[in-house]
Amino acid sequence: MEKIKVAVMGATGAVGQVFMWMLADHPWFDLAYPIASDARIGKTYASQVHWVIPVEMPEAIKEKTLKKLDADQMKAEGVQIVFSGLPADIANEVEPMLRSKGFYVFSNAASMRYDHDVPILIPEANHEQLSLIEEQGYPNGGFVVTNANCSTTGLAMALAPLKKFGIKTIHVSTYQAVSGAGYPGLSTLDIFGTCIPYIGKEEEKIDKEIKKILSINPEVYPFTIRVPVIVGHLETVWLDLEKDVEPEDVIQAWKDFKECSDLPSTPAQPVVYCEDPTMPQQKLAFWGKPQGMVTYTGRCKKKDGKIGFVLMVNNIVKGAAGGSIQNAEAFVSKYLNK
Ligand SMILES: NC(=O)c1ccc[n+]([C@@H]2O[C@H](COP(=O)([O-])OP(=O)(O)OC[C@H]3O[C@@H](n4cnc5c(N)ncnc54)[C@H](OP(=O)(O)O)[C@@H]3O)[C@@H](O)[C@H]2O)c1
Repeated sequence: MEKIKVAVMGATGAVGQVFMWMLADHPWFDLAYPIASDARIGKTYASQVHWVIPVEMPEAIKEKTLKKLDADQMKAEGVQIVFSGLPADIANEVEPMLRSKGFYVFSNAASMRYDHDVPILIPEANHEQLSLIEEQGYPNGGFVVTNANCSTTGLAMALAPLKKFGIKTIHVSTYQAVSGAGYPGLSTLDIFGTCIPYIGKEEEKIDKEIKKILSINPEVYPFTIRVPVIVGHLETVWLDLEKDVEPEDVIQAWKDFKECSDLPSTPAQPVVYCEDPTMPQQKLAFWGKPQGMVTYTGRCKKKDGKIGFVLMVNNIVKGAAGGSIQNAEAFVSKYLNK
């Protein structure tokens, strides 16, 4: 089948770079329209991007010309799907405009996540919520699908297979990489050799988003900490569950979790349990396609009836651009009969 033409907004940013890397050779999508801010338009991608992700820049994207955000031009060039790696304040204006012009928008920004008819989609966890696009007017018009904030994505992946045990309370502490703040993001002087025990609005996002994604209503007690690593959010979790389960039951639930395995960006094993008690760590090489989409768990234990474990997610692959691409694959698979 002919590939679907896609655009990437914010193509030079931290998330945008992962979009460009993953779309360079995507089996279903043709990276036809990379978009940048005004000063970069008409220039080649390689000349404008400050490439910060630890993989080589694909040859196929180096000479691509950066284009203007122009809905008419995008229509004329046959673009159907628009991926967004824009800051939330700009996304807030641009994404509804693109939806009104009939584009299918897959966004990383927080601006529309809490709209009742906009799904926060993670295909393995809640693919049924994709049908909310019909409330937005699809197939007679466009839509916006968002993905969760990056720390919530890892948590949702680890918890989705445990929903069957009844999740009553979630205590979660995160150790979040600096790439989560974009590029250039934090100053070295702020983060080098220290940890910052506050990330603005992050705890509120976890509380709100985990409930919407998993359609559950637990008590949520988050702490979010910025740590001086480049990529990979580590999280520690303690759960109160309705059922009295053992760590082996939890590990088996992760092993049995195989939702949406038909999508190109879904790993065969989306949640991988690490037996080595020193893992998972950020230094794990989790940049492959689809290894960057895996959520790693480890150190599962039980104390006083509570289940505890650690998890790790690649915040800019599964937690951002890769998650959006997988959401678009889920849409194509369900509605365009790929
Ligand atoms: N980093 C993560 O782990 C992560 C995870 C989940 C969600 N998110 C969300 O994803 C979005 C992007 O994050 P990021 O970390 O990639 O940010 P970033 O590194 O700061 O990149 C922002 C991008 O937006 C472009 N841009 C800024 N202003 C623009 C304008 N007025 N018109 C057109 N383009 C403009 C920038 O282009 P120029 O270079 O040309 O200025 C750049 O390409 C944010 O909403 C963020 O909250 C990030």
